[in-house]
Amino acid sequence: MAQRFSNNGVDDLKSQLNIVDVIGRVVPLKRAGSNYKGVCPFHNEKTPSFVVSDQKQIFTCFGCGATGDAIEFTKRYYNLDFMEACEKLGKEYGIEVNFQRNNQGKEKEKLYALNREAARFFYKAFTEKANPGYSYMKKRGMDDAILKKFGIGYADREWDSLYKYLKAKGAEDQDLIDLGLVSKGRDGKCYDKFRHRVIFPIINTSGKVIGFGGRRIDDNDNPKYLNSPENAIFQKKNNLYALNTTKQDIAKESSAILVEGYMDVISLYQHGVHNVAASLGTALTENQAKLIKRYTSNVYLCYDSDQAGVNAALRGIEILSPAGLKVKVFHVTDGKDPDEYAKAHGKDAFMALAGKAPTAVQYKLDSARKGMDLTKDEDKVEYIKRAADILRRLSPIEMDIYIKSLAESLKVSELAIKQEIEQGGAEKREQAPARHTDGAPEAVLSNTEGNVISALLTNPDLTEELFKEPGIMESAFGRKIENIIFEIFGNKGSFDLEDITDRLEPEESLSLNETLKGIFLAGKEEEVLKESINKWKLEGLKKKEKDIIAKMNLADESDMGQETVMSLTEELMKVQNDIRKYGGRY
Ligand code: UTP
Ligand code: MN
Repeated sequence: MAQRFSNNGVDDLKSQLNIVDVIGRVVPLKRAGSNYKGVCPFHNEKTPSFVVSDQKQIFTCFGCGATGDAIEFTKRYYNLDFMEACEKLGKEYGIEVNFQRNNQGKEKEKLYALNREAARFFYKAFTEKANPGYSYMKKRGMDDAILKKFGIGYADREWDSLYKYLKAKGAEDQDLIDLGLVSKGRDGKCYDKFRHRVIFPIINTSGKVIGFGGRRIDDNDNPKYLNSPENAIFQKKNNLYALNTTKQDIAKESSAILVEGYMDVISLYQHGVHNVAASLGTALTENQAKLIKRYTSNVYLCYDSDQAGVNAALRGIEILSPAGLKVKVFHVTDGKDPDEYAKAHGKDAFMALAGKAPTAVQYKLDSARKGMDLTKDEDKVEYIKRAADILRRLSPIEMDIYIKSLAESLKVSELAIKQEIEQGGAEKREQAPARHTDGAPEAVLSNTEGNVISALLTNPDLTEELFKEPGIMESAFGRKIENIIFEIFGNKGSFDLEDITDRLEPEESLSLNETLKGIFLAGKEEEVLKESINKWKLEGLKKKEKDIIAKMNLADESDMGQETVMSLTEELMKVQNDIRKYGGRY
C-alpha cells in the first residue's frame, strides 16, 4: 500500500457520505419501511433482496450475503481497492480525503514519481523519432494504438541518458539504484541498466508505475527480458502485468486469461482478447490469486505449449484452485505461445480453444495419462492410481462426476475407482506418521493451540468454554491434548500441567513444555481463549462455505436440478449467517 490512512481521514469521509445516495446512483432503490430495497447488483436475482439501511448506513443482501458500508459497496461495485474507493467517493462528493501519509508512504511516493518520469522518458524515445525499439515492435506487427495503450517505450543505447534526465529532475543516486534503473560501475559512476531495449512499464491497479520489463532487440544481448528488481514498491508476487488496463474487461467478461509473457498480453489485446494478464515471469502466488479474485472467479491458464508451460500450469492450478477460483487450462495448438497463435489465427480461433478448455481436474487427469498406453493393463492400473490421487481431494459431488466419466472411458467399474480412492487414502494416512519415530502424530502445536492450552492451565474453569466445541483444535497433537484435558477435567473438575504430561510420550511432553515457555497471556486468558475458539469456528465455517459453493457450481453446470441448488442455497445462507455471527465478513 502506498499510503497509510489515518483513521480520521476515513471516518471523516464516511460521516459525510449517505449510503442511500451512494448506492441509489447506480441501483434503483425503493423505500420499504425504514429501509430501502433494490435488486442486488452482486448476484443474479429477480425479486429484490438487497436492503440499504439509512439508519445504520449499511447495505445487506439476503440473497448472496453481501454487506458493508458505502466504501465497501464502492469497492465491490467498481472493483476497487480500499484506497481507490475512498478516492473515488471523495472526488465524486467533493469531500477532501485528507489522509495522513507516514514517512514510508512519502518515501514510496518519491519512488513512484521517479518510475513515472522514467516511463515518460522511455515513451518519448519510442514515439518522438525513429528508433530501433519502435521498428522492432512494428516488425512484430503491433499497432500504434496498442503500443500507446500499454505505454511501450524504448531505452536508447547511451550509457547514461536516463540517469542524466532523472538527475536533472533532482533524483538521488540511491533511489535510482534501488529502483534498478541505474547501477554503479567500478569507477563509481552511475549507468543506465536498461539499454537498447523495448520497455514494458508495469503498472499496478492503482495506476502507479511500479517497475519495468525490457526486451532485448539484439539477439546477442542477455537476458532476453530484463526486469526491475524487487524493491519497496515492486513485488512480483503481488502484481500481474496489464491488470491495470484489463481489470474492467476481466470483470465484464467474468473471466481472466492468464498468460506467460508481456508480448502475449499485448498481442492478444490487439487481436480483441481483452481479459488478459500475465504473471511476471515467475510462478503464480496466492496474492496474485486474491488479486484476480477481486474481478472474477473464473481463470483460464494459457501458458506456452512446451513442457515448462505444462508444468507451470499444473503448479498454477494448485495455487488458484485453493483460493476459490474456477480454473480451466489450455495451450495453443499452433506456434509456441498465445502471441504467435493470435497473430496467425485471430481472436475467434483463440476463443474457440478457450471454450474447449478442460477444467483443472480434467487437465490434471489428462496430464497424468500422458505417455501411457491404456490398452495395457499395467498402465491402466497405474493411471487409476494416479487418478485416485487427484480425485481424493475433491468434494463428494465433484468426485462422483469424475468417477463416472473415468469408469466409462476406462471400462472399469465405478466401485473399483471408489475403492482405489479410499484404499490409497488409507495407505497414505498410515504411511504419513511413519515418518516419525514412533508412529505418533507429530508433536507440534500451532500458536493458537499453544495459547489455548496455556489459557486453560492458568484458568481451568475456562475449560467449560472448550467443552462446547469438542474436536476443534487444528492438529492431531492438539486434539490429543484436548481429549486428555476433557478427561481429567471431567473427573476432577480441574487439572495441571503434570496431569497432561503424565499422559503424553516423553518427546510430546518436551514439545508442550517448550511451547508453553514462550507464552505469556498476562491476565488475558479468557479473551485469548474466546478469540481462538472464534477463529477456529470461523475457519471451519469458511471451509464449509467453500464446499457448498463448489457443490453449487457443479450442480449448476451439470443440470442436477433446481432442487439441489435450492437446498444448497439454504445451507449456504445458514453457514453465512453463522459466519456473520462469529464476526466473519458479510
Ligand atoms: P518467453 O521466453 O516465453 O518470452 O518468456 P515471450 O513472452 O514469448 O517473449 P517474446 O515473444 O520472445 O518477446 C515469458 C515471460 O517470462 C519472463 C518475461 O515476463 C516473459 O514475458 N522472462 C523471460 C523474463 O523475465 N526474463 C527472461 O529472460 C525471459
Ligand atoms: Mn513469444
